Amino acid sequence: EKGGHDYFMLKEIEEQPAAVADTLRGHFVDGCIVLDEQRLSDQELRDIDKVFVVACGSSYHSGLVAKYAIEHWTRLPVEVELASEFRYRDPVLDRSTLVVAISQSGETADTLEAVRHAKDQKARVLAVCNTNGAQIPREADAVLYTRTGPEIGVASTKAFLAQMAANYLVGLALAQARGTKYPDEVAREYQDLAAMPEKIAELLTGMEPVRALARELSASPAVLFLGRHVGYPVALEGALKLKELAYMHAEGFAAGELKHGPIALIEDGLPVIVVMPSPKGRAVLHSKLLSNIREIQARGAVTVVIAEEGDETVRPFADHLVEIPSSASLLQPLLSTVPLQVFAAEVAQARGYDVDKPRNLAKSVTVE
Ligand code: F6R
Repeated sequence: EKGGHDYFMLKEIEEQPAAVADTLRGHFVDGCIVLDEQRLSDQELRDIDKVFVVACGSSYHSGLVAKYAIEHWTRLPVEVELASEFRYRDPVLDRSTLVVAISQSGETADTLEAVRHAKDQKARVLAVCNTNGAQIPREADAVLYTRTGPEIGVASTKAFLAQMAANYLVGLALAQARGTKYPDEVAREYQDLAAMPEKIAELLTGMEPVRALARELSASPAVLFLGRHVGYPVALEGALKLKELAYMHAEGFAAGELKHGPIALIEDGLPVIVVMPSPKGRAVLHSKLLSNIREIQARGAVTVVIAEEGDETVRPFADHLVEIPSSASLLQPLLSTVPLQVFAAEVAQARGYDVDKPRNLAKSVTVE
């Protein structure tokens, strides 16, 4: 049942191309994005003037990625908030607010309460969920299911990638309804998205060097992760995976914040994993990250650089280079996350831990 793997999580990492493909399937029909179980009319979608994304843990990180895409495609302001914070403050919500609640299990207590609070305030609620008939999709106005099948490993992997895919669909559906993208532009963005499963599959065939590196670095006391733009939430997710699976101190930072404090942590031999944006798609950010890497390397960090294939400029600064296929730059997290999952799982195994059942964690958090 583990498909020849020692752990469900390792099988689930391999299932990610299918998880993304299955989540996209059937949502682009006759040149239009369609969301399933949509109980929100086109008119209601057109009337939206603000989006909140609420979620916990990895699902929250998928929401952070979504912010970049939804704002870019729709020109709607998007706020992403931890459900546990959202529900206890007094967010400004009304009929023209869309609240997107993201939850693999559909049962997370804080996310469910955030949904209830949003509905009390008359906001429209769209659930992105992996579990048919769970409480969150039952209470939401509309549901977009991620179709990964059950996720057994406690640490989210395939559900996380599928959530990102679903969130991109939400962004495109809003852009289509609001007319901020022409139909041919929506179609092009969708084609870019539809090309991702194959790229993820290609990436997965080359993970052995990442595993070897993980074993080499498995005794480190800490690992830092840096990214910018959509690479920033990927850095947060990479750090979360390492904390929960390998019980290693790990932190993700926006690379632009380095000089505002975190650079003080850099010392000889500290591994720092850097998620590089596309050198073409995000040239300015790319050059800024290059100078960040130069700074940390000069202070003795061991640099592990995740970069697009053919990005030769990073080579001099990468003690270890992990190449990922090139993609539309907003969609890169569907790729850059994968080596970080593999890295965390391998560090955990090298340290002798059960990656399916990390200590102190439950698969669904139905109490606060
Ligand atoms: C991390 C992880 C958790 C969940 C979080 C939300 O690997 O799995 O952080 O993402 O507990 O769970 P759901 O998505 O079920 O609401």
